[in-house]
Order: sequence, then structure tokens, then C-alpha cells
Amino acid sequence: MVGRPFGKSYPSGHGEAGTVDTADTRVVVPASGSADRPTGRPDSPVSRAGLNRLLEQEPVLWPLAAIIDLGGPAAMVWVSGDRMPASSMPLTDQGSSSTASTIPVLVVGALGRMGAHVVRAVAAAADLDLVAAVDTAAAAQGQDIGSLLGLGALDVAVSQDLEGHLCLVSQQHRGAVMVDFTHPAVVYDHTRAAIAYGVHPVIGTTGLSPEQLDDLADFSRKASVGAAVIPNFSVGMVLLQQAAVAAARFYDHAELVELHHNGKADAPSGTCIKTAELLEAVGKIYNPTVVEEKESLAGSRGGQRPSGLRLHALRLPGLVAHQEVIFGGPGETYTLRHDTMDRSAYMPGVLKTIRQVGALEGLVYGLEHLL
Ligand SMILES: NC(=O)c1ccc[n+]([C@@H]2O[C@H](COP(=O)([O-])OP(=O)(O)OC[C@H]3O[C@@H](n4cnc5c(N)ncnc54)[C@H](O)[C@@H]3O)[C@@H](O)[C@H]2O)c1
Repeated sequence: MVGRPFGKSYPSGHGEAGTVDTADTRVVVPASGSADRPTGRPDSPVSRAGLNRLLEQEPVLWPLAAIIDLGGPAAMVWVSGDRMPASSMPLTDQGSSSTASTIPVLVVGALGRMGAHVVRAVAAAADLDLVAAVDTAAAAQGQDIGSLLGLGALDVAVSQDLEGHLCLVSQQHRGAVMVDFTHPAVVYDHTRAAIAYGVHPVIGTTGLSPEQLDDLADFSRKASVGAAVIPNFSVGMVLLQQAAVAAARFYDHAELVELHHNGKADAPSGTCIKTAELLEAVGKIYNPTVVEEKESLAGSRGGQRPSGLRLHALRLPGLVAHQEVIFGGPGETYTLRHDTMDRSAYMPGVLKTIRQVGALEGLVYGLEHLL
């Protein structure tokens, strides 16, 4: 769960989670807070007009998005406000440097292998403005991210307070973007938090389940906050997937192999799953049984999806990110392979997505929709 800013609850009367009664459009605040939302005043109704007035006030007082589902029987509204103590402000926000023509960007996982590349790419882009570098690495807290990455001072201090930064950036900027390259265990909460604050998420972290993706797509649509979940930012991977879909028409047998460095937590990779989903969208059942198989070592044949496609995951130091799709037919095989040698391969796709996500309606899954 995303930590609350400043390590305290929202004050009563400012931080409230509730439901909308669509009949009379009252916001009804529950008597007690949920596990991840602060306690609000018991059953305090707020009229739609009142809610709109609150949201039209000075944004510093009402920084959080109001999420209203007018289509459902009872939808959630979360309206909250809080001031960030000056001492908690990140260095760059003492005086915001973003201009109308630049996109404010928060990088989450800024000290990781991918996050560090993103910080460099954003810092080098004239139309992007790095406003926050969030990472949980204890030793780096408070240090300048640019200095840590050898870029020279960027006046952006590393902080682990994601929600505080989302809160602040939502008060100070419109159209801010959060880029997340962290860990599968936290990416869902990060994405939901960004959407709730009206900050556009660009998610590179893999490992979101189909249910989580559905939920995030629903949430971003209801909140009217464009979002992008991109399991692979490489243009070459998109081309491999398109070639695989074209080949799938001609082959009934296919196996997918993904190879990554041994620091990767999830398996199979989100990209490999995406390739499998694209092959399945062709509408075929793959790998019809020709012999009764017997595994003497569990897992030797990889993981099999309901479509019959088998996925294999290799983890070795020395690898970066690689994928093969191998088709088999009578007397032949056809192999498609993509190799990422260096993480800089992902940056054109990351920058493209940052620049487009603000104009998206709802959530987009996959770089191919942005090319
Ligand atoms: N979409 C793509 O094109 C693509 C490409 C490469 C990697 N990835 C994915 O990106 C993710 C990160 O990969 P990596 O190689 O950079 O990992 P990494 O371990 O090098 O970096 C992760 C960083 O996130 C930080 N972190 C962890 N939990 C955090 C939290 N709760 N809040 C803030 N920071 C936190 C860590 O301290 C670390 O610095 C993985 O899921 C990986 O599969 C995606």
C-alpha cells in the first residue's frame, strides 16, 4: 500500500472516502475509514454542487481527484485535501520550474536499472521537467538524484514519499506524469494512487495481473485520467509481436521463450504474456497433443496456457531481455527473436509514452497503440 504523506492521517473533514447515491447525488462518507483510506466524518453528505465548489477552490486546498462513477449503483468518491509542510517539499518544488510547455515527470524507482535511465532521458529532454525522484533505497534519501547518477545536480532530492509527491505535483501542475519502474508487489498501488491524484501513470513495471489491469482500466476511465501500461517499451519487440501474429495463421505449434537477467522478480515476463495474448487473439488452440507427455522433472515443458501455448522463462546473469517465438510445422521451424542489449533501447518508447499519455482516454496497454 502507498504510504500516506507525512506519516499521518488526513484531518477529519478533509480526507474522506465515500459513495455517491446516484439518485440524489449525495456523497455519503462512511463512519469509519477503510484499510487504505483515512477515517472521515460519520455519514456527512456533500451535495454535487458542494463537491464541485470544493474542487473549484484554490487547488492547494483540494489536491485530490474526485472519482465519481455516475453509471454504477453506488460509486466511490474520494475527496481529500492536505497541505504539505514546507520541510517535506522536494527541492525542485520550492519554486516550481515546470512551464506550460513542459511536462512535469515523477520517476518512481529512480535509482533502479530502468529508473536511472529514465531520469537521464527526462533530464536530457527539453520538453520534460523532472519534478520528483522516488525510491525506497535508504542510503539515498535526501540526496540529489542527478549527483547520484553522475549527471550533476538536478535539484531533485530522492524521497520515498510517493503519495506526498503525487499530492504536491497535483496541486502545482496540470498534466503531470508518473513513470514507474519498481516492483510487481507495489505497482498496482502506485498506479491507483497516481490516478486518484490526477497524475498520468506510465507503467513499465511488469507483473500486474489481468484482474488488476481490468480494475486500473476501469478506474482510469472513471477518473478521466489517461494511463499507459507498457510491458515492453522496445519498438523492436512490437515488430516481433506483429510478425508473430502474422505467422500464427500458418502454424498450429508454437512455444515462447523469454530470457532475462537473474534480477528479474516475475516470471514469465509481462512481454512474453503479452505476446501469448496476441497469438491467442488469432483465435486458435495451439500445440495439439500428438503423444502422451510425461515430465520426470516438474516444469520441464514450461508453463502451459489454456490456449495450449507453452511459455519458458530463463534467468541468467549476463542477459538483459530477450524473447523467442518458435513455430513448428512439418519439416520446418520458424524462429523470431528479439534481443535487448542495453536499457537505452527502451527510452524512445518511454519518452513517446510520457508525451502521449495525457491525451489518452482511459488506460492503454501496449506500445503498439502509441506508435
Ligand atoms: N516495460 C519495459 O520495457 C521494462 C523493461 C525493463 C524492465 N521492466 C520492469 O521494470 C521493473 C523494474 O526493473 P529494474 O530492472 O529497473 O529493477 P531494479 O530492481 O533495478 O529497480 C527497482 C527500483 O525500484 C525501487 N523500489 C522498490 N520498491 C519501491 C517502492 N515501493 N517505491 C519506490 N521505489 C521502489 C528499488 O529501490 C529500485 O531502485 C521490473 O518489473 C521489470 O520487469 C520493464
